[in-house]
Amino acid sequence: MTHILTAVAWPYANGPRHIGHVAGFGVPSDVFSRYMRMRGEDVLMVSGTDEHGTPILVAAEDEGVTPEQIADRNNRIIVEDLANLGLSYDLFTRTTTVNHEQVVQTLFRGCRDNGYMVQQDMPVAIDPKTGNTLPDRYIEGTCPICGYEGARGDQCDNCGNQLDPQDLINPVSKVSGLPPRFENSTHYFLDLPALAQRLSQWLDEVEATGEWRPNVISFSKHLVEDVRPRAMTRDISWGIPVPGWEDQPSKRLYVWFDAVIGYLSASIEWARRRAQAGIGTVDDWRAWWNDDDARSYYFMGKDNIVFHSEIWPAELLAYNGEGDKGGKPGEFGTLQLPTQVVASEFLTMEGKKFSSSHHIVIYVRDVLERYSADALRYFISIAGPETSDADFTWAEFVRRNNSELVAGWGNLVNRTVSMVAKRFGQIPEPGDFEPIDTELLQAIQDGFSTVGSMIAHHHQHAALSEIMRLVGEANTYVSRTEPFKLKSDDERPRLATILYTLMQAVFDLNTMMCVFLPHSSNDVDRQLGGDGTLAPMPEVREVQDLDSGKPYPVLTGDYSNVREWAHQDVTPGTPIAKPHPIFQKLDESVIAEELQRLSASDEGE
Ligand code: MF3
Ligand code: ZN
Repeated sequence: MTHILTAVAWPYANGPRHIGHVAGFGVPSDVFSRYMRMRGEDVLMVSGTDEHGTPILVAAEDEGVTPEQIADRNNRIIVEDLANLGLSYDLFTRTTTVNHEQVVQTLFRGCRDNGYMVQQDMPVAIDPKTGNTLPDRYIEGTCPICGYEGARGDQCDNCGNQLDPQDLINPVSKVSGLPPRFENSTHYFLDLPALAQRLSQWLDEVEATGEWRPNVISFSKHLVEDVRPRAMTRDISWGIPVPGWEDQPSKRLYVWFDAVIGYLSASIEWARRRAQAGIGTVDDWRAWWNDDDARSYYFMGKDNIVFHSEIWPAELLAYNGEGDKGGKPGEFGTLQLPTQVVASEFLTMEGKKFSSSHHIVIYVRDVLERYSADALRYFISIAGPETSDADFTWAEFVRRNNSELVAGWGNLVNRTVSMVAKRFGQIPEPGDFEPIDTELLQAIQDGFSTVGSMIAHHHQHAALSEIMRLVGEANTYVSRTEPFKLKSDDERPRLATILYTLMQAVFDLNTMMCVFLPHSSNDVDRQLGGDGTLAPMPEVREVQDLDSGKPYPVLTGDYSNVREWAHQDVTPGTPIAKPHPIFQKLDESVIAEELQRLSASDEGE
């Protein structure tokens, strides 16, 4: 049994999340975790809302409320959306807990004690009109690397490189439109040059496994070719206080420095909460972080790669004391670097880039209000931006729902269960199998290893397509054996064998399907005579802060009772009732309706 950390990117709490976000970090990480649990691995899946930094401060200023209010509101919305999508987090928390603050500060001190956090002056942008410091992303200009004109002071969305505002060519303030004035300010810098050699060594090692997606590894290696120290503090009043600078409340830790530490702090919070409930000890998180043979998989969209394959590993190496300056780990012990950064590409929407400000957006909440979570999970899993950009269109959503989910899988389940209910009322005892029966059952049994290995290697499109191919084979089996024509008494034994075969096929297919479609798989399980707890679901729980902070909702669950990822015999005699449809066919008019909604909100600006 391997300890597997599923580390899921922390969504910003500056607004509700759209389907592009959950296509990148959400559904793939859940499919992977569910599969690994069924394989018997010890999975810890953690994340939370990312609540510091400029976006939330700006949203608060726009609305005339405090950043806490913005964070509280969106944290709750995001928690509920992710719960409704069925994402099986062991703990989904937030970055404004006291626990997180303490872990972040401990990690910071560790890096500093080892000599990898150095003070340096840097120019800070001031808006000449307001006299306030300008957050990085409020400065726009031309990217010095690729020449893109809409680059921001923190990052270029065109080439993906991280930038400093003073690198931009012709920078202007987004607040006033004027060129910012730069003044010197002292900050802590993470000494990346002193960590670069170890970082490259690590990247060479992970590259040699052949497991990383080509785009991700080449982008990551490119990043560490030329590094310089990076500021890990900011002139901002919203964020985690800098240890030793408590008397300077206008300086805080950089949001990305704190957010990535969330993977560790959430693991610690998970262990603390369990220990409080009398399960395990407060040190249980260590099995995922200190053990050499633990594995960690980080799920995110591609715009997050730099923070997970450069900054976060550098923070870990600095804390461990593994750079050129040496050092030794602090109380957390030697922390393991990511096994794999599983970054996906971008999802566009009707051919355009998602943009909340331009109303080119479909919020998770809106989709879940009108359609089933599994219809969305299906689309993302089979057609999401796994290794190349992908486009979400309503036409394609409706087509896949109707012709694949409803007409393929839904139809197989429905006709199988209907015939069994009508003709036997229970799973029949099979007679002698014919080759056509055993061939189908064998093909499906083989699916467990084929599909499983595809999921383990993050080929979810291929995995779900393979399940759907097997569904197709089972449907073909029905047309070839024509059980609905076997009406006479002497045909009854053959009918029993065929329907038993189909029940067995549907049961095994449902076992595989449940990682992708947990809600409907539970429904299918009930129709097959099970108790409908095949895919455990997350729950929203209101908790107290473990230290001295305020209460908040978390997403958590008990996922210990899962079926094994393997063929399992169905039991003849199990009562089967008349089924109801699992998926809903969508009317074609949905397409026009949704497109109308999009353009209506566009005009509403
Ligand atoms: N909040 C970031 C985003 O939405 C992701 C943060 S991932 C973390 O793009 F690990 F840093 F938390
Ligand atoms: Zn660029």
